[in-house]
Amino acid sequence: MMQPVLPPACYTEQGWFDREQEKIFGKLWLLAGLTQQLQAENDFIVRNFSGVPVLIQNAGGTLRAFRNACAHRGMPIQIADCGNRRLVCPYHGWSYNGDGQLRGIPNEKIYGLCKKEQANLKLHSYAVETVGNFVFVNLSDDPLPITEQFSDDLLLLLREVSPHFAPEVSYSTFTGHYNWKLNFENILDWNHFQFVHRQSLAPLLEFEGDGGPGEPLTQHSPFFRPGSALADVRFSRGGPPAESVRLKDLSIIKRYAMPYRRRWFAKLLDRTLDPGAFFDCNIFPNVNFGSIHGEHFYLQQFVPTAPDRVEYHSWVFTARLKDGVPPQPHLLWGIHHAEKGVVDEDVVLFNALQKALESASTIGVMGDHETSITAIGHWYKRHLTEENARNVLMAGDGSHHP
Ligand code: FES
Ligand SMILES: [Fe+2]
Repeated sequence: MMQPVLPPACYTEQGWFDREQEKIFGKLWLLAGLTQQLQAENDFIVRNFSGVPVLIQNAGGTLRAFRNACAHRGMPIQIADCGNRRLVCPYHGWSYNGDGQLRGIPNEKIYGLCKKEQANLKLHSYAVETVGNFVFVNLSDDPLPITEQFSDDLLLLLREVSPHFAPEVSYSTFTGHYNWKLNFENILDWNHFQFVHRQSLAPLLEFEGDGGPGEPLTQHSPFFRPGSALADVRFSRGGPPAESVRLKDLSIIKRYAMPYRRRWFAKLLDRTLDPGAFFDCNIFPNVNFGSIHGEHFYLQQFVPTAPDRVEYHSWVFTARLKDGVPPQPHLLWGIHHAEKGVVDEDVVLFNALQKALESASTIGVMGDHETSITAIGHWYKRHLTEENARNVLMAGDGSHHP
């Protein structure tokens, strides 16, 4: 038996939320979207992280991230959540180059800005990294290398599966009334499948004697069979050690047996990439990505906007379609609808648990199978209460930073 590491206050109080915003969401690489959404020149998406409006734009084939605020009076450069439009402010028409530098000012004379002053005007930019089709941004002025946040196994997996993604993506968003950590912890907790998803997800899985989902076979998987690029990826059965856990350990990749049942749309797909299994990646701090049989993929993100609020984002797409098969919007809608049903089964409980935590002084106990949750709790407490956050980010890595 273990005691929970985090008290209820960590899920309910503004003080902890503010520290998270500064030391986690203001410092780490955050998922912004998928390259499928940013294929063409001037394609853009707008996100809101920690109250910061972030614009990700395809500028001449390069993905750039800016604070979505004009250098004149702060108007968002892009108003829509996504679309295709040049970097021109809708208010008074100031335009910007792909690197965010001011390009032109209509009615220039009325501003009385000399050339030197104009040269200093630009959009505030943020670091961008793409890993396969996954686009990450970092709000820090001194971003840590993404290889320090994510393990080689996770980065390899994201990179290697990406070429198999169909270009069409279904996307939706909603607001949840719970703390983001409840969502992250839940993804690590396989023991809820049989209770919360009794009718939906659980019947698709195979469970072993100890109650845990079974190990998948790999020989039939084009993704993971011996000799493939992903053959040596190590999937977690439990979680990281409860003490001295490193940042990289907080993202956990798992793969479970899920007996293959051929779905009607399998015939439309280029190939079934991982029959007999589903894999799932908890990408710290707030993303869940995985695949059912390598036939369809889900990507979910829970962005905290208050101690008891998340903005939930969800993307669904299939493996590549066969040559000549047209896009399948109804199929994507159907998969997304089914997935939302599973997500809602969790969300109803998160909302109820959040309410209960508001008045709780302690949280009960944890079982041995919940070590990954306590491990993250240890890291969280250490990271949020230490003065020098960068050193703690790296603790246990053997590397040294000033
Ligand atoms: S606020 Fe952007 S041009 Fe005026
Ligand atoms: Fe769940």
